[in-house]
Amino acid sequence: MSPLICILSSPEVLDFSYNNFNGKLHPCLGNFSSLSVLLLQTNNFHGNIPKAWAMGSSLKMIDLSENQFQGQLPRSMANCMMLEYLHVGNNPINDTFPFWLGTLSQLKVLVLLSNGFHGGIKSHKTNYAFPKLHIIDLSRNKSSGKLPAEYFQHWNAMKVVGANDQLIYMELPFAGDEWVYFVQYSTVTMTNKGIRLEYEKIQDVFMVIDFSSNRFEGEIPEVVVSLKGLHLLNLSNNALNGHIPSSLGNLTRIESMDLFQNKLFREIPPQLTQLFFVASFNVSNNRLTGPIPHGSQFDTFENSLFGGNSGLCGSSLSKKCRDFKYPQTPPSPLEENESSESPFEFGWKVVVIGYACGFVIGAIIGQIVIARKYDWFVKIFGKM
Ligand SMILES: *[C@@H]1O[C@H](CO)[C@@H](O)[C@H](O)[C@H]1NC(C)=O
Ligand SMILES: *[C@@H]1O[C@H](CO)[C@@H](O)[C@H](O)[C@H]1NC(C)=O
Ligand SMILES: *[C@@H]1O[C@H](CO)[C@@H](O)[C@H](O)[C@H]1NC(C)=O
Ligand SMILES: *[C@@H]1O[C@H](CO)[C@@H](O)[C@H](O)[C@H]1NC(C)=O
Ligand SMILES: *[C@@H]1O[C@H](CO)[C@@H](O)[C@H](O)[C@H]1NC(C)=O
Repeated sequence: MSPLICILSSPEVLDFSYNNFNGKLHPCLGNFSSLSVLLLQTNNFHGNIPKAWAMGSSLKMIDLSENQFQGQLPRSMANCMMLEYLHVGNNPINDTFPFWLGTLSQLKVLVLLSNGFHGGIKSHKTNYAFPKLHIIDLSRNKSSGKLPAEYFQHWNAMKVVGANDQLIYMELPFAGDEWVYFVQYSTVTMTNKGIRLEYEKIQDVFMVIDFSSNRFEGEIPEVVVSLKGLHLLNLSNNALNGHIPSSLGNLTRIESMDLFQNKLFREIPPQLTQLFFVASFNVSNNRLTGPIPHGSQFDTFENSLFGGNSGLCGSSLSKKCRDFKYPQTPPSPLEENESSESPFEFGWKVVVIGYACGFVIGAIIGQIVIARKYDWFVKIFGKM
């Protein structure tokens, strides 16, 4: 990257996306206090991400996806206090989970997919709580250990059930008159009955946890149920064991739940038939037993979505159920813990207010497709 870029006096948007640029980034990129949008996705940049991200940065949106960035995410990115959207997917980044980004009080979208994020996910302190997080995609990494139950308790934005009949779309943090932007969310895979949907615009209330294709083990924590606004939960391709918590039936906004290829056992809780919006559900390749629940959406699911569980039975399966009785399940110790504990009540109220403001201020999302293509390969807003 040419050092000439550093002489720009106060760029607001730097967009190099969808080109064939290669080479390393110039370290001064992290130094522009005026910059609010940095789009470098889908190029061949390599080397480390610049180390120094200045305090007082105005960056709201950083997209470094689909490049060859290696090394770690620089810790100074936590200086970008205004950051709402960070996408570093599809790079060979080798790092542990960036819990330190949890201090960013505006961060809504964190996409880390397909990198080398490894090790366990622990929330260290409550000040690393990701309070505004709507979408987290950690799929196709090497993360391991238990699912982060403490995080699920802190992710306050996901506890809010959005108004479904009122479509509010995220907006870009800038609006140039002559530039027409379409916002597209295509990197977090959202499939609906096996068909991949590409959202032209994404609802501000859309909430996603995608931890698929990692090495997570242990149980699905009951606390997931506190994330009532969740639309998509993908835990497929891990080594989760234990049973499917019946409380998942309370995640009534879920449209897609993928638990494919784990080691889950016991029966599918009949409470899951309360998931009225679920269009995509996949529990195949586990060790589930007992009957497939009846009613609502479950009557529309194909048998193959339950395949690879030799202990499941049902009227439509070759294995019929005979006098099956659901065993009484004592509440797990974890569950009891949670009901007694509510240290976040205060924080939760604050966040609800913050969330309402968020509607007004608008947020950013997505992969930007520039409708009007110019010959310029560098598109720069602001004074030169
Ligand atoms: C970033 O800004 C600081 C202070 O304004 C300056 O000392 C430093 O050299 C700059 N770094 C780059 C890489 O431009
Ligand atoms: C990732 O980094 C660690 C050290 O920080 C190193 O031991 C490991 O080999 C690296 N992994 C890959 C795949 O490069
Ligand atoms: C879940 O993630 C895997 C990749 O890790 C993907 O193949 C699958 O389609 C996703 N499921 C849904 C329902 O989006
Ligand atoms: C799930 O919802 C039912 C009824 O709405 C409620 O009685 C139960 O306490 C809820 N369970 C959890 C774990 O939130
Ligand atoms: C279940 O999900 C997995 C991965 O997400 C996919 O490979 C498989 O085809 C799905 N099963 C069905 C029946 O759709």
